[in-house]
Amino acid sequence: MDQLPIRLAEAKLRMYEQQHVLEMLANLPEQDKNKLAAQILEIDFERIAKALAGRSETKKLNNDTISSIPFEDWEDFDQGEKAAYTEKGWELLRAGKAGVIVVAGGQGSRLDHDGPKGTLDIGLPSHKSLFQLQAERLLYLSRKAGKSIPWYIMTSPDNHEATKAFFHSLQYFGYPSKDCFFFQQNTMPALDHDGKLLLSEDGTLMLAPSGNGECFASLKRTGAIADMKQRGLEWLFYYNVDNALIKVADPAFIGLAASRNQMVATKVIEKTDVDEKIGVLCLKNDRPAVLEYNEIPSFIKDKRTNDGRLFYSLGHISIHLFKLNFIEEHADTDIPFHVASKKMKYMDAEGSIITPTEPNAYKLERFIFDFFPLADEVTVVQGTREEEFAPVKNKSGEDSPLSARKLVQSLHRSWLRTVGVSEEQLQGRDIEISPLISYNGEGLKAEDWSSD
Ligand code: UD1
Repeated sequence: MDQLPIRLAEAKLRMYEQQHVLEMLANLPEQDKNKLAAQILEIDFERIAKALAGRSETKKLNNDTISSIPFEDWEDFDQGEKAAYTEKGWELLRAGKAGVIVVAGGQGSRLDHDGPKGTLDIGLPSHKSLFQLQAERLLYLSRKAGKSIPWYIMTSPDNHEATKAFFHSLQYFGYPSKDCFFFQQNTMPALDHDGKLLLSEDGTLMLAPSGNGECFASLKRTGAIADMKQRGLEWLFYYNVDNALIKVADPAFIGLAASRNQMVATKVIEKTDVDEKIGVLCLKNDRPAVLEYNEIPSFIKDKRTNDGRLFYSLGHISIHLFKLNFIEEHADTDIPFHVASKKMKYMDAEGSIITPTEPNAYKLERFIFDFFPLADEVTVVQGTREEEFAPVKNKSGEDSPLSARKLVQSLHRSWLRTVGVSEEQLQGRDIEISPLISYNGEGLKAEDWSSD
C-alpha cells in the first residue's frame, strides 16, 4: 500500500498542531488509514485559521456604517403594474430562462426529524411532504408555461442518498427526472474550542455541511452551472427547503427582478417581532447586506421609528433571484465563514465516544447573503407574510410543522373566502388546495366548495 499520502498527512498534522490525530491514524486498519489521510490532505488549515480568527469580529460591526436599504412594496403597485410584471415573469418561464435552486443541505438539528428536512410531512390533510408541495407548484407553473423548469437540489453528504431515494420512491412527484439535478454541497471540518479537528465514531474526520453560502461553489464544482448554461438559463430562483408557503419560481417576482435588472433580487416581509429569528436587509457601508438574526447588535435590532415600528424591518426570508452571470462570476469568491458553537458527539484520542451536554465544537458556515455586497444594487421587494412565509425550524411551538400547517391552511381558506365561499361553508372543514389546482388562489370557484 502506498505510504506516501499517510506520511504527508502526518507531516501536515504536525505542521498545524493537530498531533492528537496522529495516534488515531496510527491505530487504524490500513484501508481506513488511507481514507483519513486523504481527508487530512484536503483540508485548508489556513482558511480554518482565518475563519476562527474572524470569529469575534462578526458580531461587533463597530466600524461599520449601517443604514436602511431602498425597497419596493408589491402592494404599492396597481393592478396594471402587477399584471405587467407577472406577465414578464411568465415570458421568461415560457422561454426557459429561469431555473430554481433549493438549498437542502442543512442538518435541521433544531427540528429533530429523522431524514432530510424536505421529506417532512407537516400534517396537511394530503400528508404531502415539503418536497412534494414544491414539486407540484413547479409542475403547475411548468404546465402553464409549456416549459419544464430545471430544479437544482442541493444536498450534503449526510442526506444526499436519502434525498435522491425519496424522490425516486415517489416518482419525483410527477416532475420530469431529467429536470431534477441533485448535487452535494461542500463541507468543512468540525473543530473543538481549541481549534483541534474532531473525529467521528468511524475514525474519519468529522465534516459538516458548511452553509448555504457554499451553493455557488458547489454548483460550479458539480457541473450544475455548465448544465444551466447549456439550457440557456439567465436567472436562478433560490429558496430554503423549509418554507411551506414558498412560491417557487414566482412569476411576479421573476418579472419584477428582470425589469429592475440587477444581479440580485430578494423578497422580504415586514419583521414586526424584534425577536423573530430572521435576518434583516440593510446597507452596510453603503453595500447591500443582511444582518443575521443571531449577529445583530441590539442597538440595531431594537431601533424603532417614531411610530413604533422596527427601523430595520425588512425581514430576510431566503427568497432570492440571482443572475446566472453573477453566480458564475462569484463561484470562486472567498466569502467569509461564520463560526457557530454547537454540541457535537465525537470520538476522543482514546477511542471513547463523547456526548457533550454543552456546546463543544465550532461549525464553520458560509451564508448565501454574503454575496449581496458584491452586487452594486439588490432589488428588494416586500411581499405579504401570510402569502410567503411558513418556516419549519423547530419540533414544536413557533416555526414548527403545526404552525406552518396552520399558515398554509389559513391562506387556502382566505383564497376561498375571496372567491365567495362563506365562513359557514368552511366551518369545520379541513381545507387544503392542491398546488396542481391553484398556485396563488387563481382558478378557484365558490360552487366547487359548497358543502352539499
Ligand atoms: C435562514 C437565514 C436567515 C433567514 C431564515 C429564514 C441563512 C444563513 N440564514 O436562517 O437569515 O431569516 O433562514 O427562514 O441562510 N442549508 C444548506 N446547507 C448548509 C446549511 C443550511 O443547504 O450547510 C440550508 C438549509 O437546509 C435550509 C437553509 O439553508 O434550507 C437555511 O438554513 P437554516 O439553518 O434553517 O437557517 P436559519 O438559521 O433558519
